[in-house]
Amino acid sequence: TLARVYVSRKVPPQGLDILRKSAQVQMELWDSDDPVPRRELLKKVKGCDGLLCVLTEKIDSELLDAAGPNLKVVSTMSVGFDHLSLDQLKKRGIRVGYTPEVLTDAVAELTVALLLATSRRLIEATHEAKTGGWGTWRTLWLCGYELANSTVGILGLGRIGVAIAERLKPFKVKKLIYTDVVPRPELAEAIQAEFVSMDELARQSDFLAVCCALTPDTQGICNKNLFSKMKNTAIFVNTSRGGVVNQEDLYEALSSGQIAGAGLDVTTPEPLPNNHPLFTLKNCVILPHIASASYTTRNAMSALAANNLLAGLRGEPMPKELQL
Ligand code: GLV
Ligand code: GLV
Repeated sequence: TLARVYVSRKVPPQGLDILRKSAQVQMELWDSDDPVPRRELLKKVKGCDGLLCVLTEKIDSELLDAAGPNLKVVSTMSVGFDHLSLDQLKKRGIRVGYTPEVLTDAVAELTVALLLATSRRLIEATHEAKTGGWGTWRTLWLCGYELANSTVGILGLGRIGVAIAERLKPFKVKKLIYTDVVPRPELAEAIQAEFVSMDELARQSDFLAVCCALTPDTQGICNKNLFSKMKNTAIFVNTSRGGVVNQEDLYEALSSGQIAGAGLDVTTPEPLPNNHPLFTLKNCVILPHIASASYTTRNAMSALAANNLLAGLRGEPMPKELQL
C-alpha cells in the first residue's frame, strides 16, 4: 500500500521529482512559495505516514496530535531543527531527517560575504554612491576594518564554523579562536583554532561569527554581557538563528558604539518588521535568511529531504537522520 505524505511547500524540483517518481508514496503538495496556513496544515497532515516540511512550520504536539498515529517520519528541508519539538517526536517514535553538509559551502560563502559587506560597509557605500553622498574621494570616508592580521572568533565550532574559518584564512587572518560547550580538537586541528572561554572569545575577536545551533542552552547567549566585553572595533555576524541573539542588547551595543557593526542573516522574528529599530542603524546589515540560497544547494537540500523521507518510510537508515 502507498504511504501518504504531505509536502508543506513547493520545494525545489529535484526533491519533488524524487517523490513524484517514487512508486512508494502518494504525495500531496502545498503548491506555493509561501507557507501553508496553520489550519490547512493541521487538516492535511491527518492520517499521513510522512511529512516533508521547511523551517517555517512548527512541528509540535498540536501538529503531531493532528497527524495521528500513522506518522512515522518528519523530514525537514533544513539543517536547523529548532522548529521541531524533538522530545515530542522522540516520545512518539517518529524519526526525523534533516539536511546537514549539503549546505555547508553555501552558508560559509554567504557568511564571508556578509562579514565583508559589514566590515567594509558595502551597503552603506552603494547607497551613498547612488543617492548623492558621493561628493568626492575622501580620506576616512566609509572606512572599515580589515581581516588581515585580525583575530576571528567562532561561536559554536561545527561543520559550518570550520568551513567559514577555512575561507577566511587566505585573507591573512592572524589567529583563529573558538568556543563551544566542549573543545572540538578533531575539527579545530584542521583550521588551527584555539579553544577559549566565552569571555576570551568576546575580548579577543575582531570578527565574531555565530555558528551554533539554537537550543535552550544557546537561547540569547549573545547578550549585553557578551557585547560589553567586545572591542569597539569588532564586527559581529550571525548566520545561525536569530534566537541566539538578544536583539535589544545588540541594538544597544550597535547604537552606542560598543561594537562596530553587525551582519545578520537571521532575526527574531522572521521577517523582521520593517519598522524595527535595527533597520535604522547604518552599521547593521540585515539579510532575509538567505545563507543556503544557491540553486545548487537548495536543490540538494530538497533531494536529501525527499530521500530521507523515503528511506524513513521504508524503515531503512536515512541518508541524514537526526539522532533523538
Ligand atoms: C536554514 O536556516 C537551515 O536550517 O537549513
Ligand atoms: C585609491 O584609489 C588610491 O589610488 O589610493
